[in-house]
Amino acid sequence: MGCCVSSMSAHSHRFALVTVVGVATAWQAQILSCSAGPVSARNVRRLLSFQRYLHSSRFIRGIPASNPLGYILDDDYTGQAKLMLEKVGNWNFDMFLFDRLTNGNSLVNLTFHLFNSYGLIELFQLDMVKLRRFLVMIQEDYRSLNPYHNAVHAADVTQAMYCYLQEPKLAETMTSCDLLLGLLAAATHDLDHPGVNQPFLIKTNHYLAALYKNSSVLENHHWKSAVGLLRESALLSHLPTEDRSERLGSLILATDISRQNNYLSEFRTHLDKRDLCLTNGRHRHFILQIALKCADICNPCRPWKLSKLWSEKVTEEFFHQGDIERKHHLEVTPLCDRQSNSVANIQIGFMTYVVEPLFVEWSRFSDTRLSQTMMGHLSLNKQGWKEGRDKQEANTSRASEEQRTSAAKDSNSKELPQGSKRS
Ligand SMILES: *[C@@H]1O[C@H](CO)[C@@H](O)[C@H](O)[C@H]1NC(C)=O
Ligand SMILES: *[C@@H]1O[C@H](CO)[C@@H](O)[C@H](O)[C@H]1NC(C)=O
Ligand SMILES: *[C@@H]1O[C@H](CO)[C@@H](O)[C@H](O)[C@H]1NC(C)=O
Ligand SMILES: [Zn+2]
Repeated sequence: MGCCVSSMSAHSHRFALVTVVGVATAWQAQILSCSAGPVSARNVRRLLSFQRYLHSSRFIRGIPASNPLGYILDDDYTGQAKLMLEKVGNWNFDMFLFDRLTNGNSLVNLTFHLFNSYGLIELFQLDMVKLRRFLVMIQEDYRSLNPYHNAVHAADVTQAMYCYLQEPKLAETMTSCDLLLGLLAAATHDLDHPGVNQPFLIKTNHYLAALYKNSSVLENHHWKSAVGLLRESALLSHLPTEDRSERLGSLILATDISRQNNYLSEFRTHLDKRDLCLTNGRHRHFILQIALKCADICNPCRPWKLSKLWSEKVTEEFFHQGDIERKHHLEVTPLCDRQSNSVANIQIGFMTYVVEPLFVEWSRFSDTRLSQTMMGHLSLNKQGWKEGRDKQEANTSRASEEQRTSAAKDSNSKELPQGSKRS
């Protein structure tokens, strides 16, 4: 598991990219000497497999919140959802709203719509029934109890991927095969995500960590799950196999953030040399990988209202992991510790050291209005979190100052004249 920080500038070095990406040689060293014995690890594993059981129970998962106004409202919702799909290429697309309007079916409805509008169904002679069934299986294999890594995130990433595929450089060069794989990879890239990160799976001896030898454990699992569902649905069984599974895997594996610097330095080199040639299939595949990486971490580039909601959700998931760790006396992952972190701080670090470097290069590659819009939001959102944090800090220090002053007044009211300031 290589987290290569060598290409990062000195000032960003001190930041625990390690923390943000939850990688960590340092972290693993701690795990090795971690006092958490096999007993508590086994407990956690049991807990996780119970959660898995719970989540995978179709009785619990598949049921959307019941709609008291019944089908009349459903019709209205469907109409509104259709209207939204007419503007599916808008960067302001509100996936939370779309998910409500489709009764929790955002991933199915969006992906089906995109397949249809790209003409992929006719071109690849896809069976509509199989396609729907396949998409429903995908949607159901995301765990709806995860605050962040659920089907709505997958739908959002798929929508962002579509926006990137529509950018001139890609739209002019991507083949139908590329489009099919790009959308499939986006829709499945976090399939069956357990809601905890790789270091957690490793230190609790989760079977997935052993299966994938501690390396891109989650991403391998997402990929293999996707291949499993493709096979089960027989959606593409009439097409030549070629290297479809491998390409799908290579796209999904690219979303492993601990490997971001490898992709980033390759991307930079290409851009510096100006040698990307999108008639070349290998180069197109590389750009698809980068596009999917961008789509996966584009939350901070969305309008504030949406961006903030995603941030709160991902932090909730991190903190939930931290709570499990504390409860089971495991080392609490720094990023997951609600006692020492705030949404604002996590976001500012994420934006500065993970998102910005990637989108700066993407904007060099595709210097369009969309890229400018994304960079604009990124900068505003970062400002937003900074202002929030500063206000909070000012408030906290004012509050504690007041507390101290009034405590001092209480205990020392005779010695301290009114209005005197303690330094
Ligand atoms: C959304 O998907 C569900 C499940 O496949 C389907 O019943 C519904 O008709 C779809 N709605 C739209 C607007 O496509
Ligand atoms: C994975 O990491 C754990 C904990 O560091 C270690 O005990 C185990 O041997 C590793 N497995 C492999 C296949 O490297
Ligand atoms: C500041 O503190 C007060 C009381 O402690 C609280 O009511 C208020 O919401 C806080 N404002 C901010 C911006 O955190
Ligand atoms: Zn993701």
